[in-house]
Amino acid sequence: MRNFTSVKDFASVEEALAKAIAVKKNPFADQALGKNRTLLMIFFNSSLRTRLSTQKAAMNLGMNVIVLDVNQGAWKLETERGVIMNSDKSEHLLEAIPVMGCYCDIIGVRSFAGLTDRESDYNEVILNQFIKYSGRPVFSMESATRHPLQTLADLITIEEYKKTAKPKVVLTWAPHPKALPQAVANSFAEWMNETDYEFVITHPKGYELAPQFVGKAKVEYDQDKALAGADFVYAKNWSAYNEADYGKVLNMDRSWTVTTEKMALTNNAYFMHCLPVRRNMIVSDDVIESPQSIVIPEAANREYSAQTVIKELLLGL
Ligand code: CP
Repeated sequence: MRNFTSVKDFASVEEALAKAIAVKKNPFADQALGKNRTLLMIFFNSSLRTRLSTQKAAMNLGMNVIVLDVNQGAWKLETERGVIMNSDKSEHLLEAIPVMGCYCDIIGVRSFAGLTDRESDYNEVILNQFIKYSGRPVFSMESATRHPLQTLADLITIEEYKKTAKPKVVLTWAPHPKALPQAVANSFAEWMNETDYEFVITHPKGYELAPQFVGKAKVEYDQDKALAGADFVYAKNWSAYNEADYGKVLNMDRSWTVTTEKMALTNNAYFMHCLPVRRNMIVSDDVIESPQSIVIPEAANREYSAQTVIKELLLGL
């Protein structure tokens, strides 16, 4: 593997899953692979799980790890080419990226959608510049449009908990006070469409995801109908994708919050969320604290999704 930005960097979801399960069974088997190799993790945005799980994954592989929070302690970066740099931004990303590449063997990048320019976000301008100019293998730790390390962890978790071969998996929009990117929902849809699960997306009108991510999923605007018979409920907020409202919060309708009453419509479904989660906006206290909530095992699997990807990138060096 040369870079990892989406499900397409694995031959198939089955291959990704098999590799991840093998890594989880024996996480210290490849300690020699990363010896004297350095992972550089670049964060343009905050993180708890991605930061810790990816660092732990690299350590399991015997690597050294450097973490840089771009907005804390580094020079303020200009990202637009052609700009006259007479503002407070001291360094251009086009120099910073190859310099970063000098100090490491692999780079992980977290750079969220700006949510003001849909074309720029969906062209993955920042992530693609790292791929083009760093001279190193690059992997996404959540980009403008996708969060594939999260989704691989989600897939491992569903496989571990599913009670039928082809479970019904429902991705439901839920309310949130701030505008959030579509990345987690996009990525989840993209991977689920590669499985043979029954996959349904539900959201209020106006929150349609980009067609390339919706793919063959069934879209059901009535949340109660969507949840009927679900084996897994994956809750997530996202802001509007449509051109007129891109990046906007259209409503905070708490009738979409995942409550005990909503979960009663399901087939005793497991509740999933990538975290961090706003309690009593996205999900009620009762649901997230219930035995059906698998958000912690889901987060734990982030270590193995990251390790699977870093291992593949090390093998490709
Ligand atoms: N789920 C996830 O990516 O968590 P963090 O934003 O805390 O890394």
